[in-house]
Amino acid sequence: MLATRRLLPTTHHELGLLWQARPAMAGLLVAGLLAGPGGRGPAVRKVPGIGWVTADPVVARAVLQDHRSFTILGEGGVGDLWAQILGDWVLDLFDGPGHHDLRSRSRELFTEASSAELVRGAWGPTLDAVGDRLRSGEAVDVARLGRVLVGRMMISLLGLPAPDGRAAGGPGWPDDEGALTAFATGERLATVALGTAGSTRLSPAQVATARGLVAELTAGVPEGWRSAPPEQLLGRCRELGLGLEETTGLASLLMVAGTETSASAIARTTALLVDTGEQDRLLARLGSGSTPSGSLLPGEDDPIENAVREGLRMTSPASVVGRGVAADVEVGGARLRAGERIMLLVWSANAAVGPFRADRPYVRETRQLWFGAGRHLCLGAALARAEIGAVLRTLWDDGVPLRIVRRRAQRGVLIPSYAELLVARNPGAGSVRDA
Ligand code: HEM
Repeated sequence: MLATRRLLPTTHHELGLLWQARPAMAGLLVAGLLAGPGGRGPAVRKVPGIGWVTADPVVARAVLQDHRSFTILGEGGVGDLWAQILGDWVLDLFDGPGHHDLRSRSRELFTEASSAELVRGAWGPTLDAVGDRLRSGEAVDVARLGRVLVGRMMISLLGLPAPDGRAAGGPGWPDDEGALTAFATGERLATVALGTAGSTRLSPAQVATARGLVAELTAGVPEGWRSAPPEQLLGRCRELGLGLEETTGLASLLMVAGTETSASAIARTTALLVDTGEQDRLLARLGSGSTPSGSLLPGEDDPIENAVREGLRMTSPASVVGRGVAADVEVGGARLRAGERIMLLVWSANAAVGPFRADRPYVRETRQLWFGAGRHLCLGAALARAEIGAVLRTLWDDGVPLRIVRRRAQRGVLIPSYAELLVARNPGAGSVRDA
């Protein structure tokens, strides 16, 4: 492990998370990192049982932007999974004219401003309570917190009613337990995709399980779509002209795309800041009065948003992105044939840039590859950044370093993550601002 630590830019805790999540995938990602840009060998290579893989950020982006030669729908793409679960009608919504229409209409669903507002509305009181607990010397499990927060966000976005029928936003709902249940349901749905590294074909039993979970998660959608006010997501979908079927499809997508990914990034970025000692740099920058700007554009100078971007780069929770080859094509020096598949090792490409640095400037080659690229670029990117930023602010806002009391990795999951990450204030450490 010592040699690994010297050889690779990330922490051994991060490598442990990848390993515990999916050992075979961890091996592929680490191999991709070692062979990546600057390493030896071709940019695109064939791996038995997997198909084509690349860890080159420029090639990965070229694949994601080449919508003629590569598809999200065929074998190897996530659209193939959804078509089996939701029905063939999603194919158009995923990649055809319907997708273009959906993306045009939903462009304004998650802007910087609306995302900040969503986070304040859904998380404000929970985060305030966490800040109080840390200040009083209590330890906080940031992994659980991430799951609670993301579950709360999903309930409020999708208008999920309480098991006893209470409407979202009503008294006492959502509560933490309900939020954890919603999160776990989304997680179970994502787990259906776990065995699809070799093929995206699902068994009838997997399809039946997934359909049941989708029905559970979207139970509040018809009512919300009919009657939610325009400032709520489902109401906004209606106002933007999305039909009930499209809204239900989008809701399922949000639930899967935006739950584990965000919760993973929240806990892992927290751990990275502590493990690498970069929290000291973050605190120094916060203490020196760098002004928060609320934007994540290249060159921006908000220390928290800089750390968020760096956490996303280093963790890349959607570690691999798959595509089917739609037409024969040459890419990265390899000739790919229609019907084959390619896996973009996004984690490897992003991690290859170097170790976690809270003040690392924008990197042109990777840009924001952790959110994909091209027409499927993450729809919830602004929301995800606002979410991670809000948690980091709560944890470090008043200038005191944290330590990790205890941690445990999630085993056998699609998105590498912590099951537990207990943090507390470092005893004896004064506030950087008081110093
Ligand atoms: C750290 C958190 C997140 C990461 C790393 C992430 C990453 C990604 C990536 C890599 C893709 C592209 C997949 C592909 O091309 O096959 C994607 C797509 C998507 N993401 Fe995210 N995501 C995150 C959070 C969210 C959140 C919070 C939401 C919404 C609530 C969301 C909604 C979506 C949707 C709807 C798509 C599909 C877009 C399309 O196909 O047009 N994501 N995400």
